[in-house]
Amino acid sequence: MSTYNAIGQQDNWLEKQQKKSKRTRWIIAGSVTVIIAAIVIGVAVGVTVHNNNSKSSSSDISTGTGGNGTATPGAGNNGSTVPQTNPNDPSSFEKDSRLIKSFYGIAYTPEGSQYPACGNSLSQVINDIQLMSQLTSKIRLYGADCNQSALVLEAIKQTKVDMQVYLANFPIDTDPAPYLRQRDAIVQALQTYGTSNVLGVTVGNEFMLDYLADNGGTDPNSAIGNAGAALLISNITDTRNTLSAAGFGSLPVGTSDAGAYFNNEVMNAIDYGMANVHPWFANVSIDQAAGWTWDFFTETNIAQSQASTKKPQMSIAETGWPTASDDAGNANNGASAASVPNLQTYLDTFVCQANTNGTQYFFFEYFDETWKAVQFGGVEGHWGLFNADRTLKNITIPNCPLS
Ligand SMILES: *[C@@H]1O[C@H](CO)[C@@H](O)[C@H](O)[C@H]1NC(C)=O
Ligand SMILES: *[C@@H]1O[C@H](CO)[C@@H](O)[C@H](O)[C@H]1NC(C)=O
Ligand SMILES: *[C@@H]1O[C@H](CO)[C@@H](O)[C@H](O)[C@H]1NC(C)=O
Ligand SMILES: *[C@@H]1O[C@H](CO)[C@@H](O)[C@H](O)[C@H]1NC(C)=O
Ligand SMILES: *[C@@H]1O[C@H](CO)[C@@H](O)[C@H](O)[C@H]1NC(C)=O
Ligand SMILES: *[C@@H]1O[C@H](CO)[C@@H](O)[C@H](O)[C@H]1NC(C)=O
Ligand SMILES: *[C@@H]1O[C@H](CO)[C@@H](O)[C@H](O)[C@H]1NC(C)=O
Repeated sequence: MSTYNAIGQQDNWLEKQQKKSKRTRWIIAGSVTVIIAAIVIGVAVGVTVHNNNSKSSSSDISTGTGGNGTATPGAGNNGSTVPQTNPNDPSSFEKDSRLIKSFYGIAYTPEGSQYPACGNSLSQVINDIQLMSQLTSKIRLYGADCNQSALVLEAIKQTKVDMQVYLANFPIDTDPAPYLRQRDAIVQALQTYGTSNVLGVTVGNEFMLDYLADNGGTDPNSAIGNAGAALLISNITDTRNTLSAAGFGSLPVGTSDAGAYFNNEVMNAIDYGMANVHPWFANVSIDQAAGWTWDFFTETNIAQSQASTKKPQMSIAETGWPTASDDAGNANNGASAASVPNLQTYLDTFVCQANTNGTQYFFFEYFDETWKAVQFGGVEGHWGLFNADRTLKNITIPNCPLS
């Protein structure tokens, strides 16, 4: 551990990512047996969830920091697609009439935030915040490398938009350094920008999923799962202590993971949990997708939270539908195609319905991430509402604005 260096770390990343890209993106969670008979609160309309023996499943999508992605600036146009009436004032941007603030939240990683390649820029992040602020008032990040916390908070400041962000730390289970590096970057950003636009700090992205895969386990509540949970909880506890010591002790601390990979002890260590729920990876057909997502989230994640002592607030960390595949083998999920019309169907059947019933979700994702297409192929680089060059895909944004 003390022999950590940049090259060693990059090697770890490549090894990890190669392993990830080879393994199937769909992992059945042995059996997530959630035993609860309770009125589930936290869903506005109130929904009764009975005892569930759900043989559940969840997806694995690789997201966030790491690897040496191709940090190509947006479309050779400096990443700027949003006109400003005053070129020197990012708050003077012009609104796009096709965009409606109908999303509870959106998942976002600034382009060029994969350590150590980096390559992100404030001008691109400003452009992204200008666009996303026309769709939502909440975004979640995945990590804190390459100064992304500060860039996002600076962009919110300069654009003067109504935007709240979940900052994030993406620790690696084999190396203590990435956690510490990101923890310190988060604290530094909070010291510069304060907490008024920050909703919380998410520690871990698919930490349990990765730990189990790396250590030959499948059940997050097995002995192997509990060993992984202890590592994650040590990072969560350290984050709480570090935030408190810096005067930010009131910020919520949570974690994000694949929907079927929440450990019961982790549930009792977090203020909020974010769960990836992907009908695509579950081979669900597009016409069933929205209902499946809601059922899975309610029966698995909300139920598990309600059965815990701490009852953390739960949201869907990622849900969406891919619009293309880089290879023929992933052009469909067995049941439905990766296509723009199917993304439209998912938008039309999920977004306003979820808003009405109070489901908290982060739509996956803001734009097509080129580095994922390069590194993983398949559908990985094609989940955006926007193309890689920040032009809107051929979709109609649902019309159910949240205040
Ligand atoms: C790109 O953005 C930077 C920073 O805003 C600016 O200085 C530069 O002139 C821009 N380049 C082009 C080609 O627009
Ligand atoms: C990232 O990959 C590109 C293209 O392969 C290479 O030119 C660049 O040097 C790499 N950057 C780092 C930091 O390894
Ligand atoms: C991080 O971003 C902020 C906001 O743009 C900037 O002020 C600061 O200099 C950046 N830090 C580094 C190390 O790039
Ligand atoms: C954070 O987690 C990493 C990875 O599991 C671990 O190596 C490290 O010791 C932890 N650090 C702290 C301060 O909890
Ligand atoms: C909540 O919304 C989801 C889709 O977004 C829908 O499938 C589900 O039926 C809704 N639940 C209720 C109780 O209306
Ligand atoms: C989903 O479909 C793919 C391709 O048809 C198949 O390989 C995979 O096993 C299926 N996964 C599940 C969980 O059914
Ligand atoms: C955009 O989608 C509509 C259907 O919603 C379709 O009629 C039209 O041909 C598409 N346009 C392009 C450029 O693909």
